[in-house]
Amino acid sequence: MAAAVLLAAENRSTSEELRLERGCSVAPANPLTPLMGWSSWNTFAEHISEDIILGVAQAMATNGLKDAGYVYVNIDDGFFNGHGPDGRLRFNPTRFPNGMKGTVDGIHALGMKAGTYSDAGDNTCASYGGDKSGLGAGLYGHDAADCRLHFNELGFDFIKVDYCGARHMHLEEKSRYREIAAAIRATGRDDVRLNICRWAFPGTWAADIAGSWRTTRDIRANWNSIRDIIAENLYLSAYASPGHFNDLDMLEVGQYKGALKSAFGAHGDTGLTRDEETAHFGMWCILSSPLVLGCDVRIMPRSTYELVTNPYLLRMNQDPLGLQAYVAARDGDAYQLVKDAETRFGTARYVALYNAGESGHAFHVRARDFDLGGRVAMFDLVRRVDVGAFEGETVVDVPPHAARFFLFDADRRLDRVVYEAETAYLTDYSELDADGLGSPEGCRAQGRAYYAPAHGASGGMAVVNLGGRDTNDLIWKDVNCSAPGPRRLVFWCASPEKRSMMLQIDGGAPVEVKVGDTGGKFAPFARDVDFTAGLHAVRLSNPWAKMPDIDRMTVE
Ligand code: GLA
Repeated sequence: MAAAVLLAAENRSTSEELRLERGCSVAPANPLTPLMGWSSWNTFAEHISEDIILGVAQAMATNGLKDAGYVYVNIDDGFFNGHGPDGRLRFNPTRFPNGMKGTVDGIHALGMKAGTYSDAGDNTCASYGGDKSGLGAGLYGHDAADCRLHFNELGFDFIKVDYCGARHMHLEEKSRYREIAAAIRATGRDDVRLNICRWAFPGTWAADIAGSWRTTRDIRANWNSIRDIIAENLYLSAYASPGHFNDLDMLEVGQYKGALKSAFGAHGDTGLTRDEETAHFGMWCILSSPLVLGCDVRIMPRSTYELVTNPYLLRMNQDPLGLQAYVAARDGDAYQLVKDAETRFGTARYVALYNAGESGHAFHVRARDFDLGGRVAMFDLVRRVDVGAFEGETVVDVPPHAARFFLFDADRRLDRVVYEAETAYLTDYSELDADGLGSPEGCRAQGRAYYAPAHGASGGMAVVNLGGRDTNDLIWKDVNCSAPGPRRLVFWCASPEKRSMMLQIDGGAPVEVKVGDTGGKFAPFARDVDFTAGLHAVRLSNPWAKMPDIDRMTVE
């Protein structure tokens, strides 16, 4: 507790400054923006208690984290003790001897929200690691009673539903999570936020029922883990929308190399450098992931506190448009990402220059890649300063394992010319595979299209395995034309034989685009269209046969 009070006193001015700088604070628990809070798992694993949870909540309520928007206090695996013979969920008698009601009430009394945890199957994940209290503690067979307990009796506001037990039981994800969502709705609560924790992009159905879905396996406090999670989320921008986000997992900020406070030292936690920590947090912000702190916030390093309460980074994460940034340019391990700031197709855009590589990189930043024209003013979100302006192109150096984050504000917004296939929506996209862990490669075996590295493709990526079923399609949903008139759509395709695809604009009559044998290279195939001013959806599909692989579309 002493540490929390100290931090609170130290940070009083920062917290006031925050509100002044931002003009307004993050609307706490806005269901349309990514969830912000803390979870017990990354530091404590199942070694939790009422004292830890309430101590953390108290610290957050007084040290400025709550004011910055971190309002959810999520209790992860380990608080239960199976179900009793009467079918009622029991609580762990040593960790929570007073049950859970006091803990949840205590969190609420601080003006915060409380999160709970379960499994879609019979056992929770920690039970497979030896924590016997998770055996039989899952929702399976108890949906209605457990949901009433969690949300009506105890008053939890969020639930993360894991999948270890369900995986062992070979349950089917879509129908199982839908049953759980229905049980939550049946409690009469319409404000409970559901997180699907299935460690792979589960399918586009997830957005119909969940506020977020975990896309990767468990995070660890080391750079390779952060880098790999980012890599798997770079091409999922099409699936984020207000209230529905890809979840990159709980944050590992505050776990510095040489100063770890985690139960997972033996399981890959080695800590992060300051640059790695900034890249980690900033990328979670621009990719619109939930921001769930995982360190012991009672004793978090001051520098971490400054980072996670940075009003500009938080505003980027909590942007009302609910967009996830996409890769606009790439040079090897150096990625340039962009998303609109506050106004769709306006002149202000958030930009990340992310260097995943092992040596420094000089980023050649071209305004055209970001659909910006004229003079572009750059505001550095981490350093909180204007860093000048450029026209056309500028060069920015970024060290290895690091990223810089900017708000670009330009004279003019230009219509986008290049629409990479890896930024398009695939209706059937899901990374679930037969081994139950999920991987993009698993999609091939399952006959679904996916985003894949492709030689000769711009950005090094293409969409492959399309067609053969109507919904195994590709859609660019946000093709914006500022002025009406004729446009040439050029599709860059690769095919080992004659193939074809149907082009549909805004759900209109399909037009066939024939693609010859391109000898494995990407080649252009054009169609002329007339666009009205505004937003258009461009869809490519073939219900009967395989489609070519698609690198990109240009709109000229
Ligand atoms: C799984 C989840 C983690 C955590 C643990 C708890 O591994 O992916 O985030 O909830 O279970 O056992």
